[in-house]
Amino acid sequence: MSKRNLLLMLSLVLFMGSTVIAQNKYVGADKCKMCHNSPAKGEQYKLWQGSKHSQAMKSLSSPEALDYAKKNGIADPATDPKCTKCHSTAAGADKALVEATLTVAEGVSCESCHGPGSVYKGMAIMKVQADAVKNGLIIPDEKTCTVCHTKEGNPFYKEFNYSEFSKKIAHPNPTKAK
Ligand code: HEC
Ligand code: HEC
Ligand code: HEC
Ligand code: HEC
Repeated sequence: MSKRNLLLMLSLVLFMGSTVIAQNKYVGADKCKMCHNSPAKGEQYKLWQGSKHSQAMKSLSSPEALDYAKKNGIADPATDPKCTKCHSTAAGADKALVEATLTVAEGVSCESCHGPGSVYKGMAIMKVQADAVKNGLIIPDEKTCTVCHTKEGNPFYKEFNYSEFSKKIAHPNPTKAK
């Protein structure tokens, strides 16, 4: 094979590699809401909004948080990465992957558990589970939770029990048999 053909082939292989796995970015819960908020399919957005996860940034300005911060030399828990890395999807993620539509204020958002979604959120991909997973959707399990539900660095840690805790945040689709 000539040097030129070899180069052509190499660049073709590289090009194909880069199109197979597109990089997902974090887009925020509002982008999931349009398809995941109908009561018939389990209104996941509304349930998340009513959960502690969506309110997690508010806790960083609570009297307990401020008291802990004062005793531990933290100027502001709501901006210190030592606290925000678990209380906010946007604050905890690689900045290069965060779109402006995911705000720090939305706390622990869908994509902390389901993975960044700019690519998999398209209808054609989403409606086939295998395609969604291939394009980055995470079907969460206990290991997804224990990244944050760990004693390490979590001053208000509560013993984590997966079956108990996952019931508290359950948002199933009632049209799907499990
Ligand atoms: C254009 C519409 C649309 C958008 C936007 C969308 N989804 Fe979906 N999603 C679907 C459809 C359709 C399904 C298939 C099940 C169903 O009919 O509800 C699905 C399924 C899912 C499932 C279940 C996968 C399984 O089979 O267990 C998860 C989890 C999910 N979506 C998360 C998200 C998240 C997180 C976002 C935002 C980043 C999002 N979706 C955005 C349409 C959408
Ligand atoms: C990105 C970090 C993060 C991930 C991942 C995460 N959580 Fe959380 N979770 C938090 C934070 C922070 C709080 C505290 C929210 C608050 O009240 O400020 C919390 C609170 C909770 C609570 C409420 C506890 C209480 O005191 O009532 C439940 C239940 C819970 N999480 C379940 C889960 C489950 C189940 C998973 C995995 C499927 C999970 N979490 C994944 C960060 C996370
Ligand atoms: C490793 C992840 C992690 C880090 C880092 C973290 N937290 Fe949390 N925080 C949690 C989780 C998870 C909960 C929910 C309690 C539980 O289940 O452990 C929580 C709960 C809280 C609560 C109680 C909310 C309530 O009312 O139920 C406060 C207040 C809080 N955190 C403040 C802070 C402050 C201040 C910092 C920084 C010094 C911090 N957290 C750092 C994960 C974390
Ligand atoms: C704290 C982690 C966490 C957050 C935040 C979260 N989910 Fe989930 N989600 C889960 C878990 C755990 C399951 C159940 C996975 C399984 O099937 O075992 C699930 C399942 C789902 C399903 C499938 C339901 C079914 O019965 O097929 C959809 C759709 C979904 N989530 C959408 C969302 C959307 C949209 C958001 C944000 C508005 C969101 N989730 C936020 C953890 C989370």
